[in-house]
Amino acid sequence: MHAISDPVEAVRVRSAGPVLGVGIAVLDLVNEVAVYPAEDDEVRALALRRVRGGNVTNSLAVLSRLGHGCRWVGTLGDDPAADLILADLAGHGIEVRDAVRVPGGTTPTSSILLSRAGGSRTIVHFRDLPELSADDFGRVSLDGLAWVHFEGRNPQETARMIRRVREEAPDVPISVELEKRRPGVEALLTGPQVLLASRAFARAGGFEDAGDFLEDLLVCSDARLGVVAWGAQGAAFLARGGHVQRVPAYAPTPVVDTLGAGDVFNAGVIHGLLQGLPAAEALAQAVKLAGLKCGHRGVVMGPESPPTYD
Ligand code: ADP
Ligand code: FRU
Repeated sequence: MHAISDPVEAVRVRSAGPVLGVGIAVLDLVNEVAVYPAEDDEVRALALRRVRGGNVTNSLAVLSRLGHGCRWVGTLGDDPAADLILADLAGHGIEVRDAVRVPGGTTPTSSILLSRAGGSRTIVHFRDLPELSADDFGRVSLDGLAWVHFEGRNPQETARMIRRVREEAPDVPISVELEKRRPGVEALLTGPQVLLASRAFARAGGFEDAGDFLEDLLVCSDARLGVVAWGAQGAAFLARGGHVQRVPAYAPTPVVDTLGAGDVFNAGVIHGLLQGLPAAEALAQAVKLAGLKCGHRGVVMGPESPPTYD
């Protein structure tokens, strides 16, 4: 990589190649309710959506909508829900040839309550499907990629996958989503240039302040850019050699659906960096994209409401 004047110069690329996303695909059963119910209540849902979800596939769907070629690798069940997932991904133009179908496997399912009162989402996630292994990932071609984005799950295996990308495709930027503080997650801090953390991840590490968290994160990692999303308060980032910068949320009126906001935000950051934007501009764009999404039902905005930033 070339001389760095901007701290995140090394992750600003202009390649036309595809983005490879590694993570989960899920069946989301989204029940829209007037207000979040109390325990042991019996309420009627106002609407039910049966859609493909999952962090990395949500991010890929947005990246595809933004014009990037996309490939997904992850595990799939062996049931009708897996067919729904494959059809949805194909409909978004996402290449799925690397997906690993588990014989007899059950598609992970999320039962979601989306409150019309404030747009908050409550997720109960069920999974009983093996995670992608590093051996599976070893069979995936890395040729011509512009970017690889990993969900930070199954840390030991994912760390091996990251090492493989670093060794075999050293010029391809890697981002990792740090959503939950899973045992061994520190193994994911070495190798990726970009770390995309959640507020829950920061808090589980004892941090109440986004800036303190990011300072600590970059000490523990060799990443060039650390980012943390902070819900309705927006996001913050720290580029190595720089100082913590905070980006206020873009607040839609009303907030109707926050499901997948973090996945849209991550897509926005990757999109901005792939466009060659400096980190501050990439983050401003990501926050706007995520905010617009919160004012809209579903993860990917349709052709009638294209993702614009102005
Ligand atoms: P997750 O979907 O993982 O819970 P967050 O809640 O942290 O993710 O949200 C990700 C990003 O989406 C935030 O950084 C912010 O930019 C945007 N966002 C989330 N909730 C709201 C909201 N209520 N209003 C405006 N923007 C929001
Ligand atoms: C939203 C989401 C849902 C999925 C759940 C998995 O971020 O990806 O689509 O059911 O999270 O944890």
